[in-house]
Amino acid sequence: ATPKLWGGRFTGKVDPLMEKFNASLPLDKRMWAEDIRGSQAYAKALVKAGILTQEEAETIVGGLDKVASEWASGTFVVKAGDEDIHTANERRLTELVGAVGGKLHTGRSRNDQVATDTRLWLFAALTEVRGSLQELISVATNRAEAEADVLMPGFTHLQQAQTVRWGHWLMSHASAWQRDDMRLRDLLPRVATLPLGSGALAGNPFLVDRQFIARELGMVGGVCPNSMDAVSDRDFVAESLFFAALHLVHLSRWAEDLIIYSSGLFGFVQCSDAYATGSSLMPQKKNPDALELIRGKAGKLQGNLAGVMAVLKGTPTTYNKDFQEAWELMFDSVDAAHDCIRIATGVLSTLSINPDRMMKGLSADMLATDLAEYLVRKGVPFRETHHVSGAAVKMAEDTGVPLSSLSVAQLQSIHPLFEDDVVKVWDFSASADARDTEGGASKRSLLEQVAKMRAYLAAE
Ligand code: ARG
Repeated sequence: ATPKLWGGRFTGKVDPLMEKFNASLPLDKRMWAEDIRGSQAYAKALVKAGILTQEEAETIVGGLDKVASEWASGTFVVKAGDEDIHTANERRLTELVGAVGGKLHTGRSRNDQVATDTRLWLFAALTEVRGSLQELISVATNRAEAEADVLMPGFTHLQQAQTVRWGHWLMSHASAWQRDDMRLRDLLPRVATLPLGSGALAGNPFLVDRQFIARELGMVGGVCPNSMDAVSDRDFVAESLFFAALHLVHLSRWAEDLIIYSSGLFGFVQCSDAYATGSSLMPQKKNPDALELIRGKAGKLQGNLAGVMAVLKGTPTTYNKDFQEAWELMFDSVDAAHDCIRIATGVLSTLSINPDRMMKGLSADMLATDLAEYLVRKGVPFRETHHVSGAAVKMAEDTGVPLSSLSVAQLQSIHPLFEDDVVKVWDFSASADARDTEGGASKRSLLEQVAKMRAYLAAE
């Protein structure tokens, strides 16, 4: 096995189980490209600092390119003693370029290195996630416009409440996803902030130009302002996992709606075959597995967030090995969130809807509020109209007819201000369109929501 990076003062043998227990390569090798990019930028900074000659730096940068191509082609050979990605890359670099490879780590610690690698990886991964999230929002927005005329029952407490538009429901979820997108936008610069140049904890004695390294690495958030904080800070992981967990809460609520709407008893929507599965026993079944998996993963991602928070809690200032436990949760949450977003986009763009079944879900008593509002427009206080409309609902129930089938005379027996034009109340589309305030269920408002969302997406 290769000698340990930190082998100088250690003479005893390490328990083989300890070796495995301590190693993080199986996980952090995923950051091989970021580890190499970070090292190449650092080598350039060491030239400016007078530690490496231009020629030495070129040798190191070229050697690192070779290491990178080994990783990329799957030919990198991991050796016993390659504790983590930093150790493995430096070991291989030195094999390739000789002793000069040993100059690369001057003034650097794995503490500022690992934090840099992780931030680079997360920044790239979340930037991709953001692209996929905006795609999902745009699919919902396009459907909302294309199907703006489709009416459906809106629910509170999952009880039929008032008439809304299918597109209004779509935009309700797109609005939550837009907040997630904004959260991501806000946190990305805090992820892309540079720890490198902080050393183990106290800073860098060779005066590497941290601003230069930050620019080289595209760290849009600049440099971490305090070296002790720089190697301590895993907030960017926690924040990212909070984003993922909350976004999954949103996706799981969307999924739950669709699971209910796709039940045969509702029949509002049907998942395409690409995202459903059958039953091994019951030939008639079509199960919304994709949606259920999203709902399930939402639970797991909350667990991952709690896990990272618990790992960080109470650790003394600066680096502790506890932090290594965060990577697995981070990779899992980012992967799952990205998968869920892309699956949701697939489900939503291939979902078929059944507007007739949605209309059948609208019942006349859902217009009871509109009946009360009819009298409000005639000057009757709402509290009173609420009772009047309630009495009408009861009369319809008692006589076994839908609310809309009560005659004008029957309604007048409850309140004298009902007139012939009361029949106009029995119109679901008009009920939705009456709610024409900003953000309401009217068609005009819906199209305004669509336009605003498009403007947001175009600007981001
Ligand atoms: N593999 C370690 C990690 O993921 C790298 C940092 C090691 N630093 C140290 N002082 N042991 O956190």
